[in-house]
Amino acid sequence: MTTGPHPFTLDKATLHPSLCDPLLDVMNFLNEIVDRFPHAISFAPGRPHEGLFTPGDTERLITRYRQYLRDERGLSEEQITTTLLQYGPTSGIIRELLVRTLHNDEGIHARPDDVVITVGFQEALFTTLRALFAGPDDVLLVPEPCYTGVTGAAAVLGIPLQPVPEGQNGLDADAVARAADAAREAGKRPRACYAVPDFANPSGHTLTLTDRHRLLAVAHHHDLLLLEDNPYGFFTRDGHRHPTLHSLDTRGHVIYLGSFAKSCFPGARVGYVVAGQPVHDVATGTSTPLAAELAKIKSMITVNTPAVSQAVIGGMLVEHDCSLATANDPAARFYRRNMDVLLDALATALPDAAQRGVRWNNPGGGFFACLEVPFTADEALLEISAERFGVIWTPMSSFHTGPGGRNALRLSISYLDPHQIRDGVRRLARLITWRLAHPTPTPTPTLKEAAQ
Ligand SMILES: Cc1ncc(COP(=O)(O)O)c(C=O)c1O
Repeated sequence: MTTGPHPFTLDKATLHPSLCDPLLDVMNFLNEIVDRFPHAISFAPGRPHEGLFTPGDTERLITRYRQYLRDERGLSEEQITTTLLQYGPTSGIIRELLVRTLHNDEGIHARPDDVVITVGFQEALFTTLRALFAGPDDVLLVPEPCYTGVTGAAAVLGIPLQPVPEGQNGLDADAVARAADAAREAGKRPRACYAVPDFANPSGHTLTLTDRHRLLAVAHHHDLLLLEDNPYGFFTRDGHRHPTLHSLDTRGHVIYLGSFAKSCFPGARVGYVVAGQPVHDVATGTSTPLAAELAKIKSMITVNTPAVSQAVIGGMLVEHDCSLATANDPAARFYRRNMDVLLDALATALPDAAQRGVRWNNPGGGFFACLEVPFTADEALLEISAERFGVIWTPMSSFHTGPGGRNALRLSISYLDPHQIRDGVRRLARLITWRLAHPTPTPTPTLKEAAQ
């Protein structure tokens, strides 16, 4: 291939500083390593299992949504075509169906005007952060470790972060209070705190009901908004679901950021934000829901969420009578079994784990478990792991804003089959055994050592 001269060269130092933030390279690095070692078993992706997708789903669901528009909303064929093929309202076309679903599944009471349908959780987050964070002194509290979609969006928007170290039981209200105090003492305004109360990514932690109430009380006391993210809530291991923070909130502190990526499928790229908080404009004396302000921002990012994608999700909501809980039972069973297999395989492959300083948590559900090891589990070790031991995982340090997480790794169970999980854990156990026998600096294992 011949490449022509590039007359205009850009100096990276002149681009937005977030482009030099290693956080923004994490996804690329992991994708690249998966591509380079296609035969390795990968515990890295948090993708839903493709065996749960049904061919022909999209066509059937769009037809179902068209029927709904015709039979229940009284639209003509011409209006239906316009709805699906034309530019549409920025806030979305499936808001009525969504608020019914949220009421049925999450105990969330919202009006359509409190909601904006977005391009995934990610756009819901982006618009919300843009609206709430008005200046350089507004700080976002994030759990440490935290989902990179959040820390990465904050980096792109130039929003300063105040990490809140997670305890053994996840995000702790007292730690949130201390972080808010620390931000204030530094002359900043703690504006909001991001939280995944159910089966967090990456730690797998779940907040107890008491801790949820404590978090809401701290939010009230510290004048904080809580940005609740709940993509894994359906995937419990014991069938018990905790109430969402939003449904427990009596004072309007919670903005609920939703995603259909795991409960339907990520290819649709549909999410939403529930933000009914009134915004008062002193100049005009009027009030509008925060959602209306978010829609203004969205109109400058994606104009509207693709109607075809909304139709697919709308069809799914109609098909399941506006409740996705039961529709997700097969997926919940699949992920439950995979998590059971992972925990069982770890116990079998590492019977003397405690003596060797290796331990893992026992998540109540979701896609992720966390494994702690008495050595550095960084990208260099991941290379060796992928190349020589044929197993890929995510270094927990990728989810830390500071230097933490060096002795832990995240294992995702969603994308693999049970036999791959068992095989992957055996490979992981071989890596751990080899690494414990070779203290730093890390030598490269021979192929024979790797196979043992
Ligand atoms: C914590 C968390 N939030 C949200 C999402 C889904 O985001 P989106 O709807 O943008 O795909 C994910 C997906 O990996 C996630 O792990």
